[in-house]
Amino acid sequence: MLPSLRFLGNGMRSLGLRSLQTSSALRHDSLFVHRDTPEDNLDIPFEFTEDNKKRIDAILAIYPEGHKRGAMIPILDLAQRQHGWLPISAMHKVANILNLPYMRVYEVATFYTMFIRKPTGKFHVQICTTTPCWLRGSDEILDTIKKNLCLEVGETSKDKLFTLSEVECLGACVNAPMVQINDDYYEDLTVQDTEQILKELKAGGKPKPGPRSGRFAAEPLGNPTSLKGEPTGPGFGVRADL
Ligand code: FES
Repeated sequence: MLPSLRFLGNGMRSLGLRSLQTSSALRHDSLFVHRDTPEDNLDIPFEFTEDNKKRIDAILAIYPEGHKRGAMIPILDLAQRQHGWLPISAMHKVANILNLPYMRVYEVATFYTMFIRKPTGKFHVQICTTTPCWLRGSDEILDTIKKNLCLEVGETSKDKLFTLSEVECLGACVNAPMVQINDDYYEDLTVQDTEQILKELKAGGKPKPGPRSGRFAAEPLGNPTSLKGEPTGPGFGVRADL
């Protein structure tokens, strides 16, 4: 042991301290360990549908021998799409298909928040509250969703229609604030937009995904402020004697 570490260890012991902690513990709305529940336990078998078995063969064919484990995420995604969320029996099924220890699958399924390991509503509303979205008003959007759906983060509505999650950056910062609902992004949101989207979903409709500001994608909201002139040709700015 390095002298300084030994010193720290002795010092902590003499002070009766067990550990040092300088920041608050992080919290997440999903548990990283598995707990048996009536809906998620090893007694509930999982099997892929015949169509999905064909899809798995096609996915596996992409990966060369010895690297089939690279197919883990697409196959886990397939299992989740079939079941609506990812139970432990589905993880074991994927491990068996890829001939891997169960732990290798647990590691992936618990690391990526795209894998949902508990029963989820028909519409999974994921709101980004990372800094760019937060600066653009994601707190207000989150409050609107909570009030509108009578849900707290991590909860599912009694009618199993909505689940609300708070997530980190979804890669659409330029269109902040935004939410992801199932596979669709709803961007440049105002409180009114958010209420309208939820109203349409409740009525069985399919709100149009994308920016709500009138933008087509991530282009400037007003006129361009840079790269407005004709591009300069090759050699621009180069010394004449070179
Ligand atoms: S910060 Fe919200 S999408 Fe990036």
